[in-house]
Amino acid sequence: MRVDYADDTDLEVDRFEGGWFPVAQQWLGDAIAAAVPEPNAIVLGTVDESGHPATRTVLCKGLDADGVVFYTNYESDKGVQLARTPYASITFPWIAIARQLTIRGAVKKVSAESTAKYFATRPRGSQLGAWASHQSRPVASRAELEAQLAEVTARFDGADVPVPPNWGGFRVIPETVEFWQGRTNRLHNRIRVTVASSTVERLQP
Ligand SMILES: Cc1cc2nc3c(=O)[nH]c(=O)nc-3n(C[C@H](O)[C@H](O)[C@H](O)COP(=O)(O)O)c2cc1C
Repeated sequence: MRVDYADDTDLEVDRFEGGWFPVAQQWLGDAIAAAVPEPNAIVLGTVDESGHPATRTVLCKGLDADGVVFYTNYESDKGVQLARTPYASITFPWIAIARQLTIRGAVKKVSAESTAKYFATRPRGSQLGAWASHQSRPVASRAELEAQLAEVTARFDGADVPVPPNWGGFRVIPETVEFWQGRTNRLHNRIRVTVASSTVERLQP
């Protein structure tokens, strides 16, 4: 299986005069316009207590000049890993349009207010699911999980569902941002922006 990535729009360092964010925003818009499935899905890499990497997919729920926000359970494996090593690498794998965006940087929890604002926009079923699931912990059976959901559904019957105490957002604050764009003959474009120094470098593919 060999795909010739022929994206003819070129990517030059001068596109980054306004920093990494306008180009990242444009690329996310391009992925949405191209109907890439789950265009806001990101692969999130963290490290465990042994320094070993761990990856999983989460959904980007905010992209702005301050970075990328996603929501999760703070007591999940990723939550525990980020509490211990607050640093992450995230990748938007827009394979269908031969592009990839990778952001690495420090991670901080978002404010409780921001989390509450976002949580309120989620469908009730997702809100209840966040209460019902002790994410990343073993469970004896599917039936036990459904019993946990039934319990919280009854508990919040007729009431708004509050944010679970162990649930919220993380923001990845970009240190480096790398744009990868597939080109013909494997001479792909790679541009890396180092945010603190505003350095923009072309990397060999
Ligand atoms: C498309 C997709 C989107 C997902 N979005 C999220 C998300 O936004 N937040 C989340 O906690 N888990 C999300 N998950 C589940 C995670 O990949 C993962 O299984 C879970 O968060 C537990 O990860 P951990 O044990 O490493 O903490 C998503 C999975 C997929 C495939």
